[in-house]
Amino acid sequence: MALCIIGCGEPAQTEMTLLPFDQLPVQETLPDPLQFADGNPVNTESQWHEKRVREIRTLFSHYMYGYMPPAEAIQTTIDDVDAHYLDGMAIKKQVTIRFGPEGTPPLHVLLVIPSSQASPSPVFLGTNFYGNHSVLADSMIPLSTQWIPERGAGVEDNKATEASRGTSIDRWSIEQVIHAGYAVATFYHADADPDKDDFTDGLHASIPVDGSVARSDTSWGALSAWAYAIHRSVDYLVQDPDIDASRIAVMGHSRNGKAALWAGATDPRIALVISNQSGCGGAALSRRKMGETVEAINTRFPHWFSRSFWAFNNNEDRLPLDQHMLISLMAPRPVLVASAEEDEWADPEGEFLALKAAEPVYKLLGYSGLNNESMPTVHQLVGAELGYHIRPGGHGVGPRDWDVFVQFANSHFGVATESN
Ligand code: GCU
Repeated sequence: MALCIIGCGEPAQTEMTLLPFDQLPVQETLPDPLQFADGNPVNTESQWHEKRVREIRTLFSHYMYGYMPPAEAIQTTIDDVDAHYLDGMAIKKQVTIRFGPEGTPPLHVLLVIPSSQASPSPVFLGTNFYGNHSVLADSMIPLSTQWIPERGAGVEDNKATEASRGTSIDRWSIEQVIHAGYAVATFYHADADPDKDDFTDGLHASIPVDGSVARSDTSWGALSAWAYAIHRSVDYLVQDPDIDASRIAVMGHSRNGKAALWAGATDPRIALVISNQSGCGGAALSRRKMGETVEAINTRFPHWFSRSFWAFNNNEDRLPLDQHMLISLMAPRPVLVASAEEDEWADPEGEFLALKAAEPVYKLLGYSGLNNESMPTVHQLVGAELGYHIRPGGHGVGPRDWDVFVQFANSHFGVATESN
């Protein structure tokens, strides 16, 4: 039996016993987020915030995503500012964020801020799949020099070429989002960890956890590295006078949606999270075994989670957690789970049911949560702090999804726009 260490660099204020895999009880039903590890009920808001949140974060760190190192102080350089960007509609900043021991790869954050805003702007922050140069067709955005998967448009020998500029414009829909009154901040997830099965590059190779950069059973996987880098970007955003530090939303699609949820669950400065088709390891319940299973994800992407998660291949019922508990860690902050009808791999119903099962935590804290018993039909955004939306079509993210993200964020951030 191991004694718990609290993850994410927080002071240990509680201890719980973390059983080895073969001593974990089989639980066919969902574990109760409102029950302490010792079996006692969580009855009050302070019990939730002061103890249960830490327990649940520890469970996810220990058995699934791996422990992140403590926060490292950041140093930032503003490399480029364009005050008349997008025909004067926006201000563009390119920021390098450095942290950690010598040799730690920096994060390159692209920030586009609406210039029409009188006050600091709310912001959508998130990791991108193929480099900042892919989200806008702008020759002033340097091509990423990181490893990029071959499936990326305009990628040759795992390197970006000029042909890859602007190939993910729709995924971020930056002009549309700026027009709605939001800033967008994004960085390529490979700055934190290239998306391949190794532990030899990115933050893993530079920032030790428990004194070592070698991969242990509970070391951070790629999703934890991406989430950690999102936290370091938040460190920058809260200092930028053009950004409203109280309205930072993190958005992620698919694997980046998994990282967005984990980042939001471990950093209360993130005011709102949007998970788009994040599926297995994100918003979808593992115990359903629908679409992508734990075994399928660990087989294809063994580097995303901690090694300790591999034991749950075909053993989902031994998990002392499930994804509703990940969502509940956001409470009472808003979370939107967005699915697509034909994206069965991400198990839309499992995503809805996870949201629903997080609701008792919101209710304990005095909020209404989802307030919807069954899955809505397509095109309806339902819920209160817990929002759910399903659209027709398959896996992907684009302008019509951003309409929904903005609508959800507006209702919580109090933004009024022309499109309202
Ligand atoms: C694969 C993977 C999913 C992931 C998706 C994506 O389909 O199995 O878990 O969400 O890629 O990131 O697009």
